[in-house]
Amino acid sequence: MKQIFLLTSLFMLFAACDSSQESKDAADQNELAKDSMDIKIQDPHSFSKPNEAVVRHLSWKAKVDFEKKIIIATADYTIENLSGTSEIIFDTKELSIDSVQVDGKTISLYALASEPDPILGTYLSIPIQENTKQVAISYKTSPSAEALQFLDPEQTTGKKSPFLFTQSQAIMARSWIPSQDSPGIRFTYDAEVSVPADMMAVMSAENPTERNATGVYNFKMDQAVPSYLVALAVGDLVYKEIGEETGVYAEPEVIEDAVFEFADMQDMVDTAEALYGPYRWGKYDVIVLPPSFPFGGMENPRLTFATPTIIAGDRSLTALIAHELAHSWSGNLVTNVNWEDIWLNEGFTVYFENRIMEEIYGKDYANMLAILSHKDLVEEVEDFMNTGRAADTRLKVDLKGRNPDDGLSSVPYDKGFYFLKLIEETVGREKWDAFLKQYFNEFAFQVMNTKTFLNYLDENLLADSSNWMSTIGVEEWVYGEGIPDNIPVPTSTKFEEVDNQLVLWRRGKKTTELNVKSWSTPQWLYFIRSLDDELNLSQMEQLDTAFDFTHSGNREIQAAWFTKVIPNNYIIADIEAENFLVLVGRRKFLTPIYKAYLKSEFGRERALEIYEKARPNYHSVSRETIDEVLNFES
Ligand code: BES
Ligand code: ZN
Repeated sequence: MKQIFLLTSLFMLFAACDSSQESKDAADQNELAKDSMDIKIQDPHSFSKPNEAVVRHLSWKAKVDFEKKIIIATADYTIENLSGTSEIIFDTKELSIDSVQVDGKTISLYALASEPDPILGTYLSIPIQENTKQVAISYKTSPSAEALQFLDPEQTTGKKSPFLFTQSQAIMARSWIPSQDSPGIRFTYDAEVSVPADMMAVMSAENPTERNATGVYNFKMDQAVPSYLVALAVGDLVYKEIGEETGVYAEPEVIEDAVFEFADMQDMVDTAEALYGPYRWGKYDVIVLPPSFPFGGMENPRLTFATPTIIAGDRSLTALIAHELAHSWSGNLVTNVNWEDIWLNEGFTVYFENRIMEEIYGKDYANMLAILSHKDLVEEVEDFMNTGRAADTRLKVDLKGRNPDDGLSSVPYDKGFYFLKLIEETVGREKWDAFLKQYFNEFAFQVMNTKTFLNYLDENLLADSSNWMSTIGVEEWVYGEGIPDNIPVPTSTKFEEVDNQLVLWRRGKKTTELNVKSWSTPQWLYFIRSLDDELNLSQMEQLDTAFDFTHSGNREIQAAWFTKVIPNNYIIADIEAENFLVLVGRRKFLTPIYKAYLKSEFGRERALEIYEKARPNYHSVSRETIDEVLNFES
């Protein structure tokens, strides 16, 4: 609704009306259909009209200004006018446009929407001719650009240099590069980025491994990627190789720990290739970002962006690397056409991640991860059912008029995962693996939507047996609400061991006498999450005395513990929880801990007191969410 209203209230500096437009539409669809089977590129979260005029290549020239916390840049696009239209449309958000050139000539007649849409930003229309090949936009980002987080030196580990990182997914690329900001539109890019001389810049592209004295870095990404996978990080960075095609970037203070933690990375790449075909992106590196990074990881091609909170010292949280690596197939090769189909990216990736983990660490380990993922799913689905959001428990969601971020939950991840696991178990692993491999190959560098996937699944796999479709209940899984009864949750003897110890503890066995020998991190997480919601002070103290969860070096364990004990007013955890919340900006941890405060006697007051301190350290993604959790007015 909002979007339609905005479009009609556009204030145009030139007339872009074209009455023959509609008749051309069909032909354009054909043009793109060649690229992407018969999937129409349609996206409720982009103003662009890629079926009319589309970007093919971006040459980006930028200077990062750490003083002003902005980027000053020119985005020089090679475009294709597919329909003979008289305009090309870009998404922008909070950008200040300095000049626009079309085929090398500066023009003054471009149009910006008069009023930005709070979610989608501002539409930028540039007049073009039928044979226009190039448009260039010179602009500056805003200090409040959503995608960008500029960090002061104190917010880094080294505390010497500032830092900048971007987060483009889902629709934030437009806040640092004018773009046709839809996952359905791919382009190649190159870039020249100037940064202060003592810093290093890296992108989701071919990267330097050494700093250079000039502070000017050149990048090339020859494989077409959607805008949400364009990424940049700048900081006091060093590089260390792990395997032949794998390595890590991090601050010097962090690099050794990172190299130790991610020792299995090359093995993960090899394993992934053995499962579903060649890794198509050349190198696979990870950059460890400062702790304010709002996600666990982000699958930027060739260079996964990762939170430092997965560095636990014992390599126990590296499933996240398997996850981001898996996106090199599911998501980065075969891409959801828009964010309503995000389960095609995330569900497939959780599935693939689990298979990598199984290969490397064994079935027991992978099963534990699957059970924890089931717990997440059950909790979230129950919450949605109780808060009038039942429709968001569908795999395919309706996000029109909403921020795609609102559709993010464990549903696309874990319900998606279990749907695919069910198919695997129904048809048998051999057939399923062959199918998946073929799927990644056939649709490489193309878009996918739910309907096309289901048709493809039907024709290439399920058609082999007349019962499979109904045994699985494909329609119910994809379009239905809640969790279907035939969800194939595994059992785990490892978790049974934990259950047994919990029973003994509840019956009065001393915490120090429980048999927790050689428990793994998933077992500890399962233990903490399985504790009763109501715990008394003495119980919490006993647990802490024995296991010191409050000061655990494992952020997952700490977060699970705080979430459990804060509602029970456990004062000893309060100060550590504050330290955690001020340092770490990973949203997945923040949300449950702040919510835990709201349930406790510490109350909203205390949560707000902490938040006032912590908020300046958070990326916009986390701020948006926690503002809402705490009803915070900035
Ligand atoms: N692509 C996602 C992160 C994302 C999703 C950012 C949607 C913005 C919008 C990434 O691959 C991811 O899923 N990260 C998870 C990791 C996990 C499931 C192992 C995270 O950050 O927690
Ligand atoms: Zn993911």
